[in-house]
Amino acid sequence: MSNPIQDCMTAHSSVRDFKPTPVSAIVVERCVEAAQMASTSSWIQAYSLLQVHDTGEREALAELCGGQAQVHEAGAFFIVMADSRRHRLVAQTAGCDHVQNLEGFLVSVIDAGLFAQNLALAFESEGLGICFIGGLRNKLDEVDSLLQLPQGAWPLFGLCVGTAKEKPDGRPRLPQSSILHHNRYPTDLDVTAATEAFDEVAAEHYTQRGLPGRNWSGGIARRFMAPLREDLAAYYASKGARLS
Ligand SMILES: Cc1cc2nc3c(=O)[nH]c(=O)nc-3n(C[C@H](O)[C@H](O)[C@H](O)COP(=O)(O)O)c2cc1C
Repeated sequence: MSNPIQDCMTAHSSVRDFKPTPVSAIVVERCVEAAQMASTSSWIQAYSLLQVHDTGEREALAELCGGQAQVHEAGAFFIVMADSRRHRLVAQTAGCDHVQNLEGFLVSVIDAGLFAQNLALAFESEGLGICFIGGLRNKLDEVDSLLQLPQGAWPLFGLCVGTAKEKPDGRPRLPQSSILHHNRYPTDLDVTAATEAFDEVAAEHYTQRGLPGRNWSGGIARRFMAPLREDLAAYYASKGARLS
């Protein structure tokens, strides 16, 4: 039996072509309020959301994100940040050390991810389209300078929100048997067989969109042939994160 929340989740597809209609502050506040109720490690709430309103800054960010026009064309653009800054200030006020390590970085990234997905879903439940923007991490030093980010506020990805010109078809997902395991992780043989079965689904998806000859595994193999964004550790460390 379906329910409206699950229907909204399964209807998701990323939108990259937006009408110029703005997203009202009331809608933003309502969706952020709902998203903030995402679970949070030890109640630390280690995230922030930065809405970028300035047109010039959004155009500059669109370029920094790899020329992704939706960053300035969508009704609203946000940056999702893992945020340890307020915890540092709490420690400072209390006269305590504020110690960072990989666990501190991870919990803030997990908190921010859970909040962000809740937020995306809240917007989608209002009939709006969304697109996350990992391209934000292409040139984090420049994003940082543009937005004058303080120590401890770590930008992770962007979020475009707005009215879709046209809702794209969803991309298929792996069969549930590929990702839901019972008691033990499956053998490599089983994982590979399930992946090959999904390749056929993905190949059909590509063919229907005029891209015959592609499948999922090919894209994944290419995606991990060389490391991406190798300067991230240095950037986050320079902003107070500890990655070990
Ligand atoms: C953290 C994250 C970063 C993403 N970055 C981008 C991006 O920079 N540009 C883009 O067009 N889509 C981006 N996406 C959207 C994915 O490409 C998309 O979710 C995926 O291909 C599945 O398609 P669907 O969302 O339409 O189902 C991102 C998604 C996530 C979760």
